[in-house]
Amino acid sequence: MTNKKLKEFRIQGLERDDLKDSPELDALFLGYPYKDFQLRQLDIPKEKMLKYLKASLGGKQVNSAYLTEEGRLVGLISARHLPWLSGHFKANMFTLQHLLTSGKEPGYFQNMIRYLLDQMESIDFLDCRVAAGDINAIQALENSGFRFVGNEIFLVRSLLKDPLDESYRHPECVPCPDDMQDQVFDLAAKTHFHNRYMYDPEVAPEEAAAIYQRYLSGLAFNSDYHCLIKLEDGQVQGFIFYKYNQNLSHMVGRGYASLDFIGVNNSARNRGLGDALNRAALWHLSKMGVTHVVVRTLGSNYPALRIVHKVGFRITSSDLHFHHWLRPKARENSANQHPDLIFP
Ligand SMILES: CC(C)(COP(=O)(O)OP(=O)(O)OC[C@H]1O[C@@H](n2cnc3c(N)ncnc32)[C@H](O)[C@@H]1OP(=O)(O)O)[C@@H](O)C(=O)NCCC(=O)NCCS
Repeated sequence: MTNKKLKEFRIQGLERDDLKDSPELDALFLGYPYKDFQLRQLDIPKEKMLKYLKASLGGKQVNSAYLTEEGRLVGLISARHLPWLSGHFKANMFTLQHLLTSGKEPGYFQNMIRYLLDQMESIDFLDCRVAAGDINAIQALENSGFRFVGNEIFLVRSLLKDPLDESYRHPECVPCPDDMQDQVFDLAAKTHFHNRYMYDPEVAPEEAAAIYQRYLSGLAFNSDYHCLIKLEDGQVQGFIFYKYNQNLSHMVGRGYASLDFIGVNNSARNRGLGDALNRAALWHLSKMGVTHVVVRTLGSNYPALRIVHKVGFRITSSDLHFHHWLRPKARENSANQHPDLIFP
């Protein structure tokens, strides 16, 4: 990159009005190549996804900025507040929801990351999920102090192309009654310790292990999630949580849902319970009119990958996950739990 070009860089906040009619912003999103196969498997035209992505740039909890070079838009960065995790860790936490450029210049990414970190002075933590093939973004994150904490595999199953047969009907997997919820939380605490926070050296192992239990007990039975359980001798041996994605379904005009959490008691594993729970959830979702189901899991979770393959999912993309604790000490004693909005 020449000095001349550097002089002509501009980076500034994204105003709400800029979102409406910017063909250059559209071109940035449409030119992003790493999720094309996934969108095809989901039967989502890129133009419809564009609308969904542009909507994600607005809102009070989002800070976005763009980069221009010689008057031309060449990059976008956008961070969204993470309210639940901020409460859990007592820190001011954000996720980089967009980090993209029109060219292949590693310097573009780095300029934008530096700018965002400079502007958001009271931010404690940033995470970023980036496509495994996006090497320049990955290297810019590494150069900016982000730490790799795991890779994720994204899989899709179409219920249209490959409809379910009777092997998906599992009436022994039943909706979780109120008096069994505590058993589900206990099982979640025992089974869900392989999460990316476990691989983050700034997070204590017991804190990482408690994340899913707290998340599920705080949210799952009071929100849009459905939960099925598998009982043996009156004890919950396995559970699965899944949910319908209202926003995406409405926007695309199809039915989208996700399988979110599954856990089987250690002593009951490899006997087909995980497979049965996945099938029963898919069966229920198909009865709800869902057309496409997605699932995400760590790339090293071979049993989870095995069961989703067995019920017809196919891999559509893989991402690397990075964490950056800017002020690790802030986590211990943070009084500041409010989002740091630079462009309200
Ligand atoms: C993933 C999980 C739910 C699977 O439950 P399960 O009841 O053991 O699942 P099943 O018995 O139906 O199938 C397990 C499959 O994984 C295979 N498997 C087990 N360990 C494996 C390994 N290390 N590598 C590859 N495959 C493995 C088994 O052989 C079996 O496949 P098969 O039936 O073709 O032989 C369970 O391992 C679990 O609770 N893990 C912890 C929580 C978790 O990781 N959840 C997923 C992320 S949300």
